[in-house]
Amino acid sequence: MKTVMIGQDRVPQVGQGTWQLGRDRKTRDQEIEALRYGIERGLTLIDTAEMYADGGAEEVVGEAIRQASQPVFVVSKVWPSNQAPARLRRSLEASLKRLGREQLDLYLLHWPSRTVPLKDALAGLVEAYRAGLTRYVGVSNFPTAALQEALALMPPDVPLVVDQVEYHLANRRAETQLLPFARAHQVTLMAYSPVKFLAHLRPGDDRADLLARLAQAHHTAPATIALAYLLEAGPVIAIPKALSRAHIDANAAALEITLTEEERRALQEHFPCPSEDLPFTAL
Ligand SMILES: NC(=O)c1ccc[n+]([C@@H]2O[C@H](COP(=O)([O-])OP(=O)(O)OC[C@H]3O[C@@H](n4cnc5c(N)ncnc54)[C@H](OP(=O)(O)O)[C@@H]3O)[C@@H](O)[C@H]2O)c1
Repeated sequence: MKTVMIGQDRVPQVGQGTWQLGRDRKTRDQEIEALRYGIERGLTLIDTAEMYADGGAEEVVGEAIRQASQPVFVVSKVWPSNQAPARLRRSLEASLKRLGREQLDLYLLHWPSRTVPLKDALAGLVEAYRAGLTRYVGVSNFPTAALQEALALMPPDVPLVVDQVEYHLANRRAETQLLPFARAHQVTLMAYSPVKFLAHLRPGDDRADLLARLAQAHHTAPATIALAYLLEAGPVIAIPKALSRAHIDANAAALEITLTEEERRALQEHFPCPSEDLPFTAL
């Protein structure tokens, strides 16, 4: 199984996303069952956020990981308007309550904030780390310059270990500057929305054909190929959200396959990388 280190923890390179979970009580059991099935398949890193269904996704995760068969690495995120230190602390405590945990594994600033200065938001993260409320801290939606600024503001004893950004074959902008920069600074990229683009590929599209051909060669699904590409791009963890067992199986299969150099090159040619970095957007 493909794994990477976050601090002292070894985690799988494919985890589970939870955006849009926890919105409807009627689908709650199905969502809990899907997350538990993913855990059984080795997807033992779960990404959530206080913003998802106003805490509803965290409640679903809490239920899914209660009495889980193996340890689960839980990631949550604080929304920009809650990033001033006192509010961040309240947000984190509320997230922990919904998750049924005393400590998070990783807590991220969800987006750069328009209203809270970055140094204050990071001070809140550091305080939460020192209080033992989270084992690791990081950021999300930080392009290279913003990540560089954040790293410079962190005290040496509190490592910033993750930047979670949009990264998939149809949006390879993270590869231009962010990925090499993150690699050089021991920051792991977490790739969100890694498979969603597949639904927008039209039949007959060259890119869909290539993915289908590679999938056939590896006796697997196109999504598995799309994820495998990301995992091999550097220290990257992909966090697809999947409810169907077939999707979860295809996502877990990416932990086991390796693409050839030729296959990677063909993917890069069909899904060209734009030259600009990810945009900076503060919310
Ligand atoms: N930090 C941020 O700002 C941010 C932003 C967006 C997302 N995220 C995180 O990243 C996670 C993933 O991103 P996302 O939910 O936007 O997109 P995604 O995981 O790329 O796509 C989810 C969609 O793809 C389908 N799918 C899953 N596995 C598949 C497979 N093997 N083959 C074909 N289709 C598959 C799912 O269907 P089913 O559910 O029906 O199986 C669902 O419709 C989120 O859930 C969230 O945790 C973070």
